[in-house]
Amino acid sequence: MTSSTALSLDTSQQPPAWMADLPYGSRETIQAIARLLGHASRERDNPASWAGRALGASRDELASADSRPTRTLLRVAGLILGNTMARHDDITIGGPGHGDPPMWAPFDAGGAEALSVPVRMVIHFPAGTLASVDACVSIFDDAFDQHLRVYTLRSEQGAGVEILQGLLDRAAGEDNPLRGRVLQAKLASNSLTFTPLPLPVDQREQLILPEAIWRELDLCVASMTHRRATLDRLGLGTTRGLLLVGQPGVGKTNLARVLAAELAGRFTVIFADAATVATDVLALYDELDHLGPAVVVLEDIDLVVGNRQQHARTRTLADFLAAVDGAKRRRDVLTVATTNNPRGIDPAAQRSARFDTILTLPAPDEAGRAAILGRYLDSIGLDLDVGRVARAVPDVTGADLREIVRRAVLEHGDSFTADDLHAVAASGRWKTRGNTGQYL
Ligand SMILES: Nc1ncnc2c1ncn2[C@@H]1O[C@H](COP(=O)(O)OP(=O)(O)O)[C@@H](O)[C@H]1O
Ligand SMILES: [Mg+2]
Repeated sequence: MTSSTALSLDTSQQPPAWMADLPYGSRETIQAIARLLGHASRERDNPASWAGRALGASRDELASADSRPTRTLLRVAGLILGNTMARHDDITIGGPGHGDPPMWAPFDAGGAEALSVPVRMVIHFPAGTLASVDACVSIFDDAFDQHLRVYTLRSEQGAGVEILQGLLDRAAGEDNPLRGRVLQAKLASNSLTFTPLPLPVDQREQLILPEAIWRELDLCVASMTHRRATLDRLGLGTTRGLLLVGQPGVGKTNLARVLAAELAGRFTVIFADAATVATDVLALYDELDHLGPAVVVLEDIDLVVGNRQQHARTRTLADFLAAVDGAKRRRDVLTVATTNNPRGIDPAAQRSARFDTILTLPAPDEAGRAAILGRYLDSIGLDLDVGRVARAVPDVTGADLREIVRRAVLEHGDSFTADDLHAVAASGRWKTRGNTGQYL
């Protein structure tokens, strides 16, 4: 006979009365030790039974309302719960089951203070804290399962459903600190997270592009802003896809950042790199339902959405098409994708309903080259006649011209002449080695 059987308790029995009067911390500690020794009741070890005890109800007097929100929505709901917990001192928490302790996780809302939000626990909110009725909320997020669940007395089932819906509505609405921000979508340990970025400071004046490009861009934005109601009324749809095409260094990323700077606040702007899009574009678009209206910037899309004729990973293409233009019509989402290689994109993805505007950013002409040089010289306080330099380098991009100025500063400091600049440009020393690949 092992010592554990010798000491075994009836696991279905209620905790002894003296335990009920212990303060929260001691009670949980004794229970944790009991669990370690194998004496804890299974019955005690799950959110429903914990909620039952907190609400003073037996199992069949308990009702629950359940939802499976997206990860980010669940984090924001956690933030709301955490804020409510901070305002009241009669709120208690229990572990998520299986003997695990309650768990908190950091939440980056872009503010100065580091926030910590509940991610796996059950929380008792006495009447008058979260809602007018007594309720417990179970929040859970791990690799396999996400849920938000509200337990109430069966007689208050309706109120429980309302509490749950209210939490979800608040998380998807004004209480979502990510709404209207500029976010980087990232895959961290297999789950999609949004990290707030500082507001881009990029301005149109800094980016020298043909007038026609800006006009097209404005039309695209208008369909999302002041023309939205009209398009809606005429049944023309407001969801737009904008494909920015051009060789490396012509300003595609920069243009997307200008757009982000102009639309942040009114729109949530999300930057996603190729790896994120390749892995989970559907999850990314699912999150937009509670962050919209949104602009999604998908960089170097050809790396992800290949051409079927070129043996691309077609599952990702199918996901991508479903996300951008699937059965579930998404309102208020502008997809801005960039590519160096439009032929690498399947024609189905280019079809007008998916990318209804395709903008090709040209390499700058002579006047453009002079203007771009002027813009970079201006930022170091120089005003030179750059006409001869602009003529000397016929096949360059904006990125190359920036590099020429940078090289001149490296060689001469912040004061040099037009002749110095011309010598640098003509020397070719500014060329970054290996910058010939299509994806660089
Ligand atoms: N037309 C332009 N006017 C001003 N700067 C430009 C222009 N094109 C590119 N640049 C500069 O070159 C750099 C690289 O541009 P980027 O937007 O990353 O190019 P792409 O995404 O097309 O490869 C940026 O710092 C950008 O400011
Ligand atoms: Mg780029």
